[in-house]
Amino acid sequence: MRLSVIEDSGQDRFTIEISDDGRGMDEELKAKAVDPFFTTRKTRRIGLGLPLLKAAAEHCEGDMEIISAPGKGTTVRARFRHSHIDRAPLGNIIDTIINFIVGNPDVNFYFSHKIDGIEVTFDAQELREQLEDVPLNNPAVINWIKKYLTESYHEIRK
Ligand SMILES: Nc1ncnc2c1ncn2[C@@H]1O[C@H](COP(=O)(O)OP(=O)(O)OP(=O)(O)O)[C@@H](O)[C@H]1O
Ligand SMILES: [Mg+2]
Repeated sequence: MRLSVIEDSGQDRFTIEISDDGRGMDEELKAKAVDPFFTTRKTRRIGLGLPLLKAAAEHCEGDMEIISAPGKGTTVRARFRHSHIDRAPLGNIIDTIINFIVGNPDVNFYFSHKIDGIEVTFDAQELREQLEDVPLNNPAVINWIKKYLTESYHEIRK
């Protein structure tokens, strides 16, 4: 799973891209996926993730695109006008990442946040290789990741 956030003030663009190597979607599913009353969930009958992201992007002079093929994984790309008054802030991205890792310690998660060419990254695979048998959601490891990300953001905001 790859999450990438790209902020480009020159182009006045804010782009979020989420890619996975999961089951993918065919053309029909891709078209239905943006309908709030369509979901393949078994837990409830509405699926709001994609329609809400699409609506948010379109409200900010942007768009959302799904690039996907069965068996080949999926990329969802949402673009916003960076300076648009209705563009929601990214929020607490560090805690979002931490929560994802705590819940999904075995996923090969890659995170990249580029702000006008300067980048913060986190690579779960690389860290896992160094940790050998210690899981990524071990509390000491989680604290380390949190510190690493906090310091990385401090570094680029200097
Ligand atoms: N990355 C993906 N890979 C494969 N299928 C997907 C992916 N994302 C969404 N889908 C398909 O599109 C449907 C709609 O997605 P959407 O995110 O809008 O809702 P949901 O995931 O079902 O529920 P929610 O996001 O509200 O928890 C999903 O139920 C699933 O069938
Ligand atoms: Mg969803």
